[in-house]
Amino acid sequence: MIIDKISLSNFRNYDRLDIKFEKNMNIIIGNNAQGKTNILESIYVLALTKSYKQGIEENFIKFNENFTKIKGIIKTDKLKKDLEIFISLKGKKIKVNNNEIKKLSDYISNLNIIMFTPDDLEIIKGSPSFRRNLLNIQISQISKRYLQAYNEYNKILKIRNEYLKILYINNLADFSYLDILTEKLIDKAIIVYQERQKYIDQINLNIPFIYENIIGLKNIRLIYETNVDFKTFEAEEIKKKLLEKYQQNKQRELVQGITLYGPHRDDFSFFIGDKNLKLFGSQGQQKIAVLSYKLAEISIFEQKLKTKPVLLLDDIFSEIDIKKRNKILAYINKDIQSIITTTDLKNINKKMLENAVIFEIKNNKVERK
Ligand SMILES: Nc1ncnc2c1ncn2[C@@H]1O[C@H](COP(=O)(O)OP(=O)(O)OP(=O)(O)O)[C@@H](O)[C@H]1O
Ligand SMILES: [Mg+2]
Repeated sequence: MIIDKISLSNFRNYDRLDIKFEKNMNIIIGNNAQGKTNILESIYVLALTKSYKQGIEENFIKFNENFTKIKGIIKTDKLKKDLEIFISLKGKKIKVNNNEIKKLSDYISNLNIIMFTPDDLEIIKGSPSFRRNLLNIQISQISKRYLQAYNEYNKILKIRNEYLKILYINNLADFSYLDILTEKLIDKAIIVYQERQKYIDQINLNIPFIYENIIGLKNIRLIYETNVDFKTFEAEEIKKKLLEKYQQNKQRELVQGITLYGPHRDDFSFFIGDKNLKLFGSQGQQKIAVLSYKLAEISIFEQKLKTKPVLLLDDIFSEIDIKKRNKILAYINKDIQSIITTTDLKNINKKMLENAVIFEIKNNKVERK
């Protein structure tokens, strides 16, 4: 899959911008605050209908304007699609080939992307909820089963938590209803655990090769950290262990009024050998680990979706030494479309740029070199 063209109206610092991308590597060069990240953000919004940045959607709209529009033309081997997102103070409208789409879940997957932003270092440094959120976004793009189970899990979790509070203040309330909720919760938890485990396993198949290739360090892997010790991720085992936990902690759950065990408490870490990268990794090692993780996703997406995603890489070269910059480019310089932003191309090996087109961005205008 490639994104052939984008047209922005009133998006962040742009009143109007049209770019035609090439099918391989596209590099956007510009000084700070010129609007490089904004271009990638607009493509992210076109793919997922919302931003990875915090804040309300009205922030997309150029200052002093009252709407923004992002249009894109997507091409795969077989077809071409026009996507459009219109956002005003009144809300959001989404169109595919000029037909309005009402249901978000019907829209996602028209444009598949993998994005790296400097904020993604939070994948290592940030809170568990940041990582869980990432798992949800990524696995939802490739598994409807996951998306459904996860949404239902959350609904039941909320009801169960409410019910624990009721039980605590009202001794006459019905404990058997709690058992029913627990049973339902476990049913969905099984799917969430299994899909997350499968996804992390697949990342682990790909990431060591990529990381070693760029930075020369062996044995990187992700460790899935559930707050219940499972011997396997078989349904029976998950059910048995979760039931045990809920039994043993009934009183604590009642007092606190929350469900203490389950995938809503999951986490994962990056390890090199037996060292946790969060505690021992340098800034560059961490950045390359996150980037390798993103690149490891390419083949997972490809397997599931039967097409390659578009890679959006924001500011990938800062804090990375020259040798590794070239290694990264060598890895990306394959049969995949990438859109990369950087402030400069100093010391980049010319050979790496043979397949690349370069856009320079200055004063809200983009010029193809
Ligand atoms: N809604 C908006 N309306 C107008 N301008 C905006 C809006 N939102 C952000 N901007 C401006 O867009 C400019 C470009 O931001 P962007 O983050 O894309 O820069 P950048 O080229 O990625 O810079 P850096 O190299 O520092 O990352 C900023 O100066 C910002 O103030
Ligand atoms: Mg930027």
